[in-house]
Formats: sequence, C-alpha cells, structure tokens
Amino acid sequence: MFSQLQQPPADPILGLSIKFKSDNKPNKIDLGPGIYKDEHGETPVLACVKAAEQFRTANETSKTYLGSAGSALFNEKMTQLLMGEDHKVINENRIRTISAPGGTGALRIAGELINKCSNTIWVSNPTWANHQGVFTAAGLKVKTYPYYDYQNKNLDFDGMMEALKQVPKDDAVLLHACCHNPSGMDLSREQWQQVAELSKEIGFTPIIDIAYQGFGNGLEEDSYGLRLMADTVEQMIVCSSCSKNFALYRERIGACSVIAKDAASTDIVHAVLLRVVRVNYSMPPAHGAALVETILSSDELTQEWHGELQVMRERISGMRHLLVDTLKAKGVSRDFSFITRQNGMFSFLGIEPAQIERLQDEFGIYIVNSSRISVAAISPSNVDYLCQSIATVL
Ligand code: LMR
Repeated sequence: MFSQLQQPPADPILGLSIKFKSDNKPNKIDLGPGIYKDEHGETPVLACVKAAEQFRTANETSKTYLGSAGSALFNEKMTQLLMGEDHKVINENRIRTISAPGGTGALRIAGELINKCSNTIWVSNPTWANHQGVFTAAGLKVKTYPYYDYQNKNLDFDGMMEALKQVPKDDAVLLHACCHNPSGMDLSREQWQQVAELSKEIGFTPIIDIAYQGFGNGLEEDSYGLRLMADTVEQMIVCSSCSKNFALYRERIGACSVIAKDAASTDIVHAVLLRVVRVNYSMPPAHGAALVETILSSDELTQEWHGELQVMRERISGMRHLLVDTLKAKGVSRDFSFITRQNGMFSFLGIEPAQIERLQDEFGIYIVNSSRISVAAISPSNVDYLCQSIATVL
C-alpha cells in the first residue's frame, strides 16, 4: 500500500523553519512563519496565560469530555471578542460559536460545512499558503480574486470588486479580517462597506478569517470589517485563532462561528457543523480554551492581556519603521516605505527568487519564496545584519 506514496513537496512556510533549524550560520534569522518574537528573539508565554494556567491547575476538577462544541464559556467569550457584546447577531440569536483546533482547524471544518451546500470558495490572490490546501482537502474547488498590486505595492481594489461581481450566489468568498496574510494590506472601512454591500446584493457567503485580531490597530478596530459584514449579510462564517493574540500557538485553539438568517436556521447550521467535527476529530482540545476563557472572565487578566497585546502590536509596528529606515541608511535606493503602511506581521519585500535564495544560502536569512517576511521576527539586534544582507543581494 505505502509503496504507492511519493514524497510531497516541503510546506512553503513550515518547511522553511525545519531548514532554518539545521543552518549553522551564527547570525541566521527566520523571517518565515508568523510567530511573534520579542526583542531577544524569544516567543515567551504571556504573563496572563501563566496566571490563567496556575488558576486552572488549582481549580480544575475534571477532565471529562466537553462535547464537539468544546467549552460553552470559551465559545461565549470568543463570540463577544469577535462581535462585541451588543452586536445584532448576538441579540437576534443568530450566531453560534464552537471551539476548534486552531485557526486551521476552524477553516477546515468551515470548508467541510461549505462543501455540504456549495462547491467553490474564492480566496484572495495572494493568500495564506495553506488556504488552498485546507479547502481542497475539504473537497472544495478554490478560485482566486485579485487583491494585491505587486507593481504599486497596493491593494488592487478595483480588480477585486470586478472579480467579486462575477461570483455566483452560492459560492463562498474568503476575506481576511485584518493583517492580510501575506501582503499586510487591509481593506479600508469604505472598502469593507462596498464588499459587504456587494455580498448582500449577490448573495455569496463571506468566510472571514481572523487570525491576527489585535495585531493591526487594536482588538475593536481589527474586527470592524467582520462586524460590518455581519451587520449587512444574512449568513456568514468566522474562523478565528488564538494562536497569535494569546501566543498559544502549540495549544491549537481557535473558533468557528456560524451566522444564519434566523435562530432556527442557525441551529441547523450549528448542528451540521457539530457532525462535521464529530467525524473529524470528535472534540476540540480543551487546555487553550480554558486559558482563554479564564483570561476573558477576569477583568484583571483581560487588562493584563490587552497590555501584552499592545506591546506586541507596537513592537511590530516599530520594527516596520526601523526596517525601512535601516535599509535607507545602508544605501538602498529602492523605496520600501510601503512596509510602514501595512498591518500585522507580514509584508512582501518584492525581491527576486534568486535574491531570496542568496539571502538564505549566504546569510542564513529565511524568507518565504513569495518574498513574504515576518516583520515580527525583526529586532534592533538583527536589523543591521538583515538590512546589510538585503542591500548586498539587491
Ligand atoms: C503563517 O502564515 O506563517 C502562520 O499562519 C503559521 C502557519 O501555520 O503557516
């Protein structure tokens, strides 16, 4: 049986980190995966998470099954975090959230849910390198709409709208709520309004991927688009992740929220989603959810979390400016100022494949082959070496 299998290609993001680990260059830098690093290059456990862990250890009384939806308290807190406490879909009882094994797990079960009523999902070009694989594995056909104008380092909003106007009513359209991965270019509020109105007019179902809430402009600001969309359309899905904003990466915790036209329809969608979970992994892991619900149930821990998130957000934004300034100081004449106009962890450097290869081979600087960099891995102590290396390959 196994003799029929062939070696699959390395994952474009995770494969890079494996290569990075075995690189012996002393100044190597991993700008591959979207992992927040502090100025010492570490990804520490947040203090609010440590406190929540201590609380759970002292107070947990059972590890019995929670069911396919996971913890009800976590689901309630996540709904509020995503939608705000007073959103109409909450008041109209039209939203159900379930815990999922990370944002990827949420996307996969959303894909399987969509596959029960439609067969196509549209994703931005470019999008997260794993979207295509996840949705294809869920049985969907994946099509793309224009999003990033590589030439002008800007959003191709006209191209996006033109393409979305052609999307059939029963198809799904994936949108990044904030901190677009990989381009860092987000829709403005006016653009969200236009996309929401188009979605309502045509009837396609928006699938909102929100993996970086709090990393763009703030928790509330970053959910503007998804809240507006939920205000406007009859039905949609939200796939969220706690990997980055709670730094719970390996705990695999995220959520999948479904919204339908009324409470009874939402109950049916929710029930179908739970069947999808049951035949996949039965129930989500509980530890990460327990930490998030503990933090969000305590005013003190929530305040602490907001502070820690703000530090991460502001450090990344500071590194965007430092990167652009240091490139200039190294004599690079190309204009990289677009990097300071983008949000979240990622930007495209816009350099050639041969230059990306040289950065890796000669300098131990690892960048995804699309030229995406994780700005979150830059620090005052590596920015000089990084910019000198970029200047050399340019
Ligand atoms: C990324 O895009 O680097 C992150 O979302 C990590 C991953 O799983 O790819």
